[in-house]
Amino acid sequence: MRTDAPTRPALPAGKKLALITGGAKRLGAHLARTLARDGWAVVINYRSSEAAASLLVDDIGRDGGYARAVRADVGDKVDVASMFASVEQVEGRLDLLVNNVGVYEPKPLPQVTPEDWDHHIQANLSGAYYCCYSALPLLQQTQGSIVNIGYAGVDVLNANPNATAYEVSKVGLLVLTKAIAASYGPHGVRANMLSPGHLANSIDLPDDLDAEIPMRRAGTLEDMAQALRYVIAAEYVTGQNIDVAGGYRL
Ligand SMILES: NC(=O)c1ccc[n+]([C@@H]2O[C@H](COP(=O)([O-])OP(=O)(O)OC[C@H]3O[C@@H](n4cnc5c(N)ncnc54)[C@H](OP(=O)(O)O)[C@@H]3O)[C@@H](O)[C@H]2O)c1
Repeated sequence: MRTDAPTRPALPAGKKLALITGGAKRLGAHLARTLARDGWAVVINYRSSEAAASLLVDDIGRDGGYARAVRADVGDKVDVASMFASVEQVEGRLDLLVNNVGVYEPKPLPQVTPEDWDHHIQANLSGAYYCCYSALPLLQQTQGSIVNIGYAGVDVLNANPNATAYEVSKVGLLVLTKAIAASYGPHGVRANMLSPGHLANSIDLPDDLDAEIPMRRAGTLEDMAQALRYVIAAEYVTGQNIDVAGGYRL
């Protein structure tokens, strides 16, 4: 954690702050850019992609926005607590947490090891919980919200035998989303989930998209950005999962 943090918040007056986990690349980076373009200040969490996070911060700054990168392994409680302590100290507020980290290393269940299992659950589920735990006191001060990134079909309880630990982590994340919505609604905090199906950058995009996806195309990062804008603005929507998946896994 930086030790030279200013005693007064560095955030320009009136700016709302979003923190995006795993935000240096791919979907997380697109959501960070979208929010920055929409006038949000952004804290970009990364684990190993320091150079990409730094480039993104520079890009957003060049466009007149506010961004800061913070390294933390979300599966590490101490890292997460330090990251949110730095937000409290440097920006002094938090209005939106996007839990975007999603380790996905598909493997048939008989080949999955306890280490594979822990790797998925720790990052995708425990990590999101640690972030929510630290974020919620700040979000209550701003009547902010949480958006967790899931996986299409999460609420159908599919077996997903080639990605079981991943599926379990996302189902658990949906249960956490609903529990936060129920517990913190009275305190003005909403929690929702946005679940992509196959994005165009998927590591296992099917050959026959037409057969698998009723809308006959892969999802784009912009499809997710549209849904994020909706769920941020929809003040009476909480505890919901929205598949952003063109009908995949219905
Ligand atoms: N892409 C798709 O087609 C698709 C489909 C369905 C759902 N999703 C969901 O959408 C989200 C984003 O997907 P993506 O494909 O863009 O993700 P990704 O590229 O696989 O991962 C995003 C970032 O997560 C970070 N990360 C992983 N473990 C971490 C940890 N323990 N602590 C902190 N950061 C960690 C990595 O950061 P560093 O690089 O800094 O290490 C990585 O850049 C995920 O939740 C995923 O499950 C994606």
